[in-house]
Amino acid sequence: MKIVLIGAPGAGKGTYAQILREKYCIPHISTGDIFREEIARDTELGRVVKSYIEKGLLVPDEIVIEVVSKRLKQPDASRGFILDGFPRTLEQAKALDEIVDVDAVVHLVVSEEVAVRRLSGRRICPVCNRVYNIYYEPKPREDEKCDYDGAQLIRRPDDEPEVVRNRYRVFYETFKPIIEYYRVSNKLIEVDSNKSIKEVFPVVEEVLRRNKILRLQPCKEDVRVG
Ligand code: AP5
Ligand code: MG
Repeated sequence: MKIVLIGAPGAGKGTYAQILREKYCIPHISTGDIFREEIARDTELGRVVKSYIEKGLLVPDEIVIEVVSKRLKQPDASRGFILDGFPRTLEQAKALDEIVDVDAVVHLVVSEEVAVRRLSGRRICPVCNRVYNIYYEPKPREDEKCDYDGAQLIRRPDDEPEVVRNRYRVFYETFKPIIEYYRVSNKLIEVDSNKSIKEVFPVVEEVLRRNKILRLQPCKEDVRVG
């Protein structure tokens, strides 16, 4: 199962990738998570990408393409993967085609209004990267602490309203040609992601099974959905 999740900030890419990863034991590769880890470790790459991410701008293509290309060559990606947040430009989409033949590109469609509300309530575990929300399920059981490792949850610096608006502008300016690119190559699947996680996740699974992209049996049954 080689799939790509695309969509606006707050569409649920990270959320559904995380559930699919736990349920089917397929790696979740998020360019945003990779860059945030590099920033936290204060590496050379982290220092370069920080200035772009803080402003809500895209990291230059050549940097992102190199990072993804290296990651996809790691052995755990051979059975499949869930790419989250890549590609984000037409150049990145073309570069991905040179690296691997993906099975499907799922576009999670969300309205701006819904996404902005979700991002204002998003909280992240700095240890395991799990995503919570103080307004919607999954809410942390104990006040702003991770249910799995007890770490104090954090807000992403780029979830500040001004930066969110910039990420949105960048998304709308850059995304149309990518969606068209995958529509023409017959890989595009669109899913309405405006509803709750409990309602949207079964639709994502069903559409992948119907298109014979998801053929794996779950490696874990009791995965928390929403
Ligand atoms: P990245 O980390 O990828 O951010 P993004 O694309 O802006 O997307 P988000 O992570 O904000 O949204 P999501 O769809 O994952 O939402 P989530 O599932 O968390 O990238 C960050 C930055 O890195 C970029 O701005 C850029 O600078 C750089 N970058 C990364 N990749 C790049 C690339 N390829 N090229 C260039 N630059 C790149 O959900 C949001 C919240 O809503 C959560 O709290 C969740 O619990 C909640 N929620 C989700 N679904 C539902 C639902 N159905 N109902 C209710 N709540 C829900
Ligand atoms: Mg994300």
